[in-house]
Amino acid sequence: MQVDAIKSLKTGVANVFLIEGSSLELLEKTLKNFKKLKPTIEKTMEMEHVKGKKGESIKIIDPLTYIFSLGESDKITEDTYREVASKVSSRLKKDKIEEANIIANIDFSKTITEGLILGDYSFGKYITKEKENKFNVEYAHILSGKPKDIELGSIVADAQIFSRNLVNEPGCVINPITLSQIAKEECEKVGLKVHIYDEKWIQEQGMNGLWMVGKGSETPPRFIHIVYKPKKAKKNAKKIAIVGKGLTFDSGGLNIKTGDYMRTMKLDKSGACNTIAIMRAIAKLEPPSEVHGFIGAAENMPDGKSYRPDDIIIFRNGKTAEIDNTDAEGRVTLADVLSYASEQNPDVIIDMATLTGACVVALGEFTAGLFANDDDLASTLFNTSKNTGEKLWRLPIDDENLREKIKSPVADIKNTGGRYGGAITAAMFLQEFVKDGIKWAHLDIAGPAFTEKEYKYYSKGGTGFGVRTLIEYILT
Ligand code: BES
Ligand code: MN
Ligand code: ZN
Repeated sequence: MQVDAIKSLKTGVANVFLIEGSSLELLEKTLKNFKKLKPTIEKTMEMEHVKGKKGESIKIIDPLTYIFSLGESDKITEDTYREVASKVSSRLKKDKIEEANIIANIDFSKTITEGLILGDYSFGKYITKEKENKFNVEYAHILSGKPKDIELGSIVADAQIFSRNLVNEPGCVINPITLSQIAKEECEKVGLKVHIYDEKWIQEQGMNGLWMVGKGSETPPRFIHIVYKPKKAKKNAKKIAIVGKGLTFDSGGLNIKTGDYMRTMKLDKSGACNTIAIMRAIAKLEPPSEVHGFIGAAENMPDGKSYRPDDIIIFRNGKTAEIDNTDAEGRVTLADVLSYASEQNPDVIIDMATLTGACVVALGEFTAGLFANDDDLASTLFNTSKNTGEKLWRLPIDDENLREKIKSPVADIKNTGGRYGGAITAAMFLQEFVKDGIKWAHLDIAGPAFTEKEYKYYSKGGTGFGVRTLIEYILT
């Protein structure tokens, strides 16, 4: 969908109003024939029991007008606009309306744009019959909208959709090799430098964690490094590293998952897809910071060549780990990626990983776990997430009793820590590979990265959760 700003209403297309409560002020200000329309509107609102609750809407046929309520004024947030704007898209889509004027409080031009674009999305690529699934709203014109905000909102939402599309592709399409090819193609298109390294390089570099996890698959692992450098290098500009878990499919390996748990495990590349999406957006937004994206891409499969429980891995940074469970593979691949990222001496490392089912148990499926070795970074990300509507909640990594659980009798650490505090012991494992002095945050997105039911501006499948928050973080 293309969203732009217009100075006056385009004639012959639907008018869509986003109003506070049940106030018709916005219509009165905008429509010349408001007086004539008012009785019809009021009657329709009464008939449809529209009282001004969030998401309630009415449609008037002549002239084609939609009115959506944002709910009571004091409860309206940026995310309310995103959520209601996405309802606008789904409604227009259902009614097969290609183009509309949007009339709303233009201070929310950015979030309205995001909501409109995100709400228009569904993954219909492989559906051959249901043609109607493929209808999309083509144009939305925000009356007196702020062009800069609309452009930013479009880039951010398009990035999130890019990630969703990639996550939604199944394991038979996206494997470590195709993922790296797409990363290269799509990022070079927007002027980024992309380095793709093969399994030979991975072994030579001592990235044995990534290698061990990846070697059981028909498709060998890849290491992806994407670089954005600002055109005019500024002094004191931050250097930020984004790291994404890139398991193109997680069967569990030799500790194979049962059917119910293996289902949806194409989602295990969500962190990687987000990373690619964020880097592409950053290339367009040109912030003053230097930004690096790092991905360890692998497929976790059972095979005669697979790594095993009891195996001991010597990682790139020299630390050793005993494998307790081959299904705790994310941390094993991320270990080497975090070491490599640390060696580039960034000020900040932020990783996104669909790391543990335990995090979903702790926080539910709509909130990501936030872990950090730095309080300022944690609160910055937490506050950013309040604006983006991508809920984060901080979990601790300072419980030394819990840390005991990842001790091993035969190696420095072990790749699982038992049932309790599973999201935390996984984060503690990762922390072993972040160089001291580098600020680091880990987002466990196992819950919100993928949804089996529609909610807010999310359609079934990959959500791209994390993309909006990290772009916002990098820009500020
Ligand atoms: N990719 C999974 C985590 C996951 C689970 C993501 C559910 C999204 C939804 C991860 O690799 C995994 O299998 N974790 C295990 C760890 C356990 C073996 C210690 C888990 O959470 O069960
Ligand atoms: Mn696993
Ligand atoms: Zn996994």
